[in-house]
Amino acid sequence: MIKIVNLSKSFGNKKVLENVNFEVSKGEFVFIIGESGIGKTTLLKHLYLEEFADSGEIYIFNKLIDKNIKQKEIQLLRRKIGVIFQDYKILPDRTVYENVILPLRYMGLSKAVCEERVEFALKFTKLIERKNDYPYYLSGGEQQRIAIARAIARQPEILLADEPTGNLDFNTSLEILKILIDLNFQGMTIIMATHDLELIKYYDNAKVYKIEGYKIVKL
Ligand SMILES: Nc1ncnc2c1ncn2[C@@H]1O[C@H](COP(=O)(O)OP(=O)(O)OP(=O)(O)O)[C@@H](O)[C@H]1O
Ligand SMILES: [Mg+2]
Repeated sequence: MIKIVNLSKSFGNKKVLENVNFEVSKGEFVFIIGESGIGKTTLLKHLYLEEFADSGEIYIFNKLIDKNIKQKEIQLLRRKIGVIFQDYKILPDRTVYENVILPLRYMGLSKAVCEERVEFALKFTKLIERKNDYPYYLSGGEQQRIAIARAIARQPEILLADEPTGNLDFNTSLEILKILIDLNFQGMTIIMATHDLELIKYYDNAKVYKIEGYKIVKL
């Protein structure tokens, strides 16, 4: 599903990744760990086509991605890739329900299909009772679940989660992880960056990769 060959990336004269090789197959759950500032987010951004390699190759769904990729192709690929950011990026002036349905409306799906998907996503994340609330009134964990609901309602093939439990206590983090594990059981490919080394012990099926010294190594 994803294949990265000899990826190198610098920001100005700051080297972040060098000759990184990394592969993810359909249905896998992959944790990416590594200390703060090491390049986890940078790697995920390449997979969401927000950053492009200085050199090396990235294939997503067998398609070679480079700087010259057309905006239209980026949009098409992004339809199959869901993202959950650490800072949630939730709209504060919209209800839980609206936060989840709006991206679907942009995808041009019919109203009925959108409603059905939102219903499913909110039930899956146990938010259905909060659907008419504004995010302000929800806890950090609940807000994070909105971000997950919003991502899964789009039914992506790959879900990129960048520190989805970053600001949460351990039990809440575990709840979030369990939702992601459930999604993985249902066949979704998941790549999750985290600095929580306790958390990764809770899923034996997952592969763990560590970024260190500009490289990524499998643990
Ligand atoms: N757009 C950018 N311009 C310049 N430098 C950047 C940019 N994005 C990231 N960096 C730098 O690249 C390095 C890797 O950043 P990245 O965000 O990938 O780290 P991270 O592993 O996700 O860290 P954290 O655990 O704190 O989230 C950092 O030194 C960061 O300052
Ligand atoms: Mg990061």
